[in-house]
Amino acid sequence: MKQQIDELKKRALSAVESAPDRKALEEARVAFLGKKGELTAILKQTGTLPAEERPVAGQLANSVRAEFEAAFAAKLSALESAEIEKKLQTERIDITLPGVRRKIGSRHPLNIVLDELKEIFISMGYTMVYGPEVEETRYVFDMLNTSEGHPARDEQDTFYIDDETVLRTQTSSVQIRAMLEQKPPIAVISPGRVYRRDEADATHSPIFHQCEGLVVDKGITFGDLKGTLETFFKRLYGDGIRLRFRPHHFPYTEPSAEVDLSCFKCGGSGCPLCKGEGWIEMLGCGMVHPRVLSNCGIDPEEYGGFAFGVGIERITLMRYEIDNMRLLYENDMRFLRQF
Ligand code: DAH
Repeated sequence: MKQQIDELKKRALSAVESAPDRKALEEARVAFLGKKGELTAILKQTGTLPAEERPVAGQLANSVRAEFEAAFAAKLSALESAEIEKKLQTERIDITLPGVRRKIGSRHPLNIVLDELKEIFISMGYTMVYGPEVEETRYVFDMLNTSEGHPARDEQDTFYIDDETVLRTQTSSVQIRAMLEQKPPIAVISPGRVYRRDEADATHSPIFHQCEGLVVDKGITFGDLKGTLETFFKRLYGDGIRLRFRPHHFPYTEPSAEVDLSCFKCGGSGCPLCKGEGWIEMLGCGMVHPRVLSNCGIDPEEYGGFAFGVGIERITLMRYEIDNMRLLYENDMRFLRQF
């Protein structure tokens, strides 16, 4: 029996030793130490031996089992380590590779200028009001003293939804809404989109942005208008800027003016930016027409006011010396990332 056990031990240990993977190792364990394994059979057999042979054979078989189990455990941990090592090699992470950078957006230049404008006027005590972009003709034209037949109402300039509804051509419509809703004293600004039937080119777009301003109170003078606009533009562009008021006509103001700013680039001596003029046209303004006040139920004998409307695109283009308006709408990242 000893010979049989020795021979079995040799085969068992070599099966463990040569197992190439965990599956083969487990097969070896089952073959020798499983329920029907060869070594299990021997261990059972030793119990049936005559009493004098039993201790020696039993001890031998048990020591073979112990040796087999130790070899099995050692081989198992060797195979496991090899597996982990292999995994580490194949799944290695290169921590020196740069990460995936998330692109963070930035404010659009039009919004940068608009935010600044709001801040300046809010600091002067104005509140913000908004009106609809699809607007009734009476707010865009009639109540602003712009009667039927006025060129601004021409089909060529205005997008008509129906006879009484248009895409507003100016934020001035919000003046009327503000005067209908609030009692004087009123000091509001109203930024927003406006629409005109213009071909898009370097200086025109069918959609653009304006900001309307309106003040109504007792004893308002043209001097208040001048002072307000001067304060605004100096805060926006610095103390060096100069304003020039030119007489003009708007149906809803009397007197009316257009305001030019001294050229930022040349300071007024003339350059390509201001087309040699030294001045750049900036906005329209004036004293609110008495008829507009009374259209809104405000007594022009008691109250007066001033109003202005400024193009946000114009301020933005000048401020950043952008020579083509289309750049503001194309959403080209190479352009937008500069702000
Ligand atoms: N609505 C004018 C425009 O679109 C700008 C304007 C001029 C607004 C005079 C006013 C104003 O409030 O008083 O060109």
